[in-house]
Amino acid sequence: MAAMKIVRTIPAMQALADRWRRRGLVVGLVPTMGALHAGHLSLVRAARRACDRVVVSIFVNPLQFGPAEDYGRYPRAPGRDRRALARAGVDAVFSPSVGAMYPTGHATGVEVTGPLVARLCAPRRPGHFRGVATVVTMLFHAVRPHVAWFGRKDAQQAAVLRRLTRDLGFGIRIVVAPTVREPGGLAMSSRNAGLSAGDRRRAPVLFRALRAGREAVGRGVRRRAGVLAAMRRVLAAEPRVRVQYLDIVDADTLEPIPRLRGRVLLAVAAHLGRTRLIDNLVCRVSR
Ligand code: PAF
Repeated sequence: MAAMKIVRTIPAMQALADRWRRRGLVVGLVPTMGALHAGHLSLVRAARRACDRVVVSIFVNPLQFGPAEDYGRYPRAPGRDRRALARAGVDAVFSPSVGAMYPTGHATGVEVTGPLVARLCAPRRPGHFRGVATVVTMLFHAVRPHVAWFGRKDAQQAAVLRRLTRDLGFGIRIVVAPTVREPGGLAMSSRNAGLSAGDRRRAPVLFRALRAGREAVGRGVRRRAGVLAAMRRVLAAEPRVRVQYLDIVDADTLEPIPRLRGRVLLAVAAHLGRTRLIDNLVCRVSR
C-alpha cells in the first residue's frame, strides 16, 4: 500500500482526486475537525470498506464558531490523528491551513435556509450552519468524493448537508453513521476532552434522559409534553448540567410535532462547565 499523503492545498487535493477519478476509482471523504476519536474511526472504517480511495479532511473551521465559542480551545492533536489514520489505511489527509481555505478577500458563503435551521442548535449558534455548509461545499470541491460520511450525533448538521448536497446537485452520496458511545452511554465527541473529571461522570445523564424519552414512547406516551417531562425528570438529577434545549422534532424535516408519529428525533444540548455537548436518539413511532 502507498504511504498516506498529507495534502495542504485545494489545487493539490483536486489534482490527486482527479488522477484517482480518471482511473475509475471510487473516492470517499470523511470530513473532520481532528482530535479524532472512536466515532471518527468508525466512519473511516466504513469508508475504507466502501471505497477505493479514502480521504480524511482535518480542518478546524473558524467560520462555524461564534465569537464567544471555543475555536481557540478546540482540541487539536495533529500527530496522534495522522498516526491513527495511517494505521486505518487512509490514502490521504487533506489538512489545509486557514489561509489556504480562506485567503484574504474570501467573501463567499453557502447557506441552507428554512425549517431545517429553525430549531435545535441553529438559533443558539447563529452563523454555525452557514459556516459548516460553506466549508463542506469547499471540501466537496477540493476532494471531489463520490461518497461522504457524517456522524448521527450531529443530526441537524447531517440534515442540512443532505439538503445542500441535493440542492446544489453535487451527486455525492451522503452516509450518516450511528453515534459511537462510551460504556456509560456518553456520545463520543472531540469536546469530551474538555470535561473535568466530575463533568465526565455527570455527562452520561444526557444519554440517560434520551433513553428515558424513548422508554416513555415505548410505554405508549405520544404527547410531546409527556415525553419531554420524562426526559426532564432524569436531567433534574444533575443540576450542574445546564440544559440549553430539549426538543422533539420530525427526524427528517426537523419540524416540531405535538403528537409523536413516524421517525422522531429526541435531541438535547447542554453545558457542562465551559463545554457544550449535544446528543440525540431517533425513535420509530408506529401508531
Ligand atoms: O462535524 C464536524 O466535525 C464539522 O462540522 C465538519 C463537518 C467537519 C465541518 O467542519
